[in-house]
Amino acid sequence: MKIAFIGDVHGHVRHALGALVLLQQRRGIRLDAAIQVGDMGAYPALERMDAPSRRFAAENPAEHDFFRLLDPSPEFAAAVRRARRLVPPVLFASGNHEDFEWLAGLHETQAAAVVPVDPFDAFRHVECGHVTTVAGQRIAFLGRIEEPGYMDLDAAAHALLLTITPGTVDILVTHDGPFGLCQDWRGATQGSPKLSDLITHLQPRLHVSGHYHHENGPRRYGRTTSYALAELVNPKTNRRRPERANPQQRVTPGSIALLDTDTYAMEYLHDDWLAEVCGDDYKSFAGL
Ligand SMILES: [Fe+2]
Repeated sequence: MKIAFIGDVHGHVRHALGALVLLQQRRGIRLDAAIQVGDMGAYPALERMDAPSRRFAAENPAEHDFFRLLDPSPEFAAAVRRARRLVPPVLFASGNHEDFEWLAGLHETQAAAVVPVDPFDAFRHVECGHVTTVAGQRIAFLGRIEEPGYMDLDAAAHALLLTITPGTVDILVTHDGPFGLCQDWRGATQGSPKLSDLITHLQPRLHVSGHYHHENGPRRYGRTTSYALAELVNPKTNRRRPERANPQQRVTPGSIALLDTDTYAMEYLHDDWLAEVCGDDYKSFAGL
């Protein structure tokens, strides 16, 4: 079976669905599952966004597409419905830029650990600490990042996952990455010691993460092969890393990876057609 993994979306839901549609068309495959590693940008309204998300959205209008998903125009709704007939729902973990209260409310109201967040059931949020079987694989989810404050890892969910018998989870999906996976622009070591401990304990075959907005992997941690994904659509301008500037709002090479569960081969997508999924304008819905 085939599973697509998607990096930080930050509101670009049209790009996410368009890329999945084109992935199936251009590779001649059918996806059995799609999983996103957090920072969906799941806010129900502009005023609920945190300050950085609001700032980025002001300069990158397609980051508002999550709102268009919740309150769609007829054209937007028709395009999402067409996409949804072709691709599986996207399961996503929490990142550090979501409306945690709104998401918790959806879980409470629907009394479920996996809940649709939009009227098309295109995107389903998975609670931290939940383990579910998708495309024949046992997949554990732990969102957020290791950082004191409201974005911090869910301690109870982390503790719960540490009680699971090693080797019984096939894939671990997190937002943050293991400690030491990269350095920030100042040279400080990045990553979460608690996620390193979790990988060491669970020993999944595969670990997939996001948050750092660049392709990073494969890295080996004992039995586990770990991949970090690039941001799905880099911002138009980037002061610290000008080489990542993305004025045309194209999907980033390395922001999507494809797993074949028969062989466990994992491939970062660098295909030329990724650039076709682009733009600020929701009327240009790629592949549909
Ligand atoms: Fe992010």
